[in-house]
Amino acid sequence: MKILTIHGPNLNLLGRREPEIYGAKNLEMINLDIARRGQELEQATVCRQSNHEGEIIDWLQSAEEEGFSGIIINPAAFTHTSVAIRDAIAAIKLPVIEVHLSNISAREEFRQKSLTAAVCRGSISGFGATSYLVALETFKLLSDPAA
Ligand code: DQA
Repeated sequence: MKILTIHGPNLNLLGRREPEIYGAKNLEMINLDIARRGQELEQATVCRQSNHEGEIIDWLQSAEEEGFSGIIINPAAFTHTSVAIRDAIAAIKLPVIEVHLSNISAREEFRQKSLTAAVCRGSISGFGATSYLVALETFKLLSDPAA
């Protein structure tokens, strides 16, 4: 399995951005955790980050052609605003798991609504950087329930 992880806007600032909400790890550390866990699960992992909606949409659209078999996405603030990212996820055939570091259901009202979650295979929210690792495990279990 080859899994693409897409980090949305402002996640490049992790580590120094509201660490009491998003944790102390920076994006590089999170991507290393993803790569390590992926190796253990025999998954090839690629991580990308963008602050730009269109770039994220381009990555979603090209993922299948690039040979990925699943996508983990933290759309960050676009979760709550982007019909375009929602439509891109709905348009592609690859399974997509939505991930959040914080528990968006327990936060401000505007964060409690995800425009993207309903078109994803499922979502994982509230476990800090571990949310990404749970998503990797989920892809593993879905592809090989005996694993
Ligand atoms: C986030 C939650 C979003 O509401 C916020 O805009 C983010 C990060 C999370 O991972 O907890 O940037 O997606």
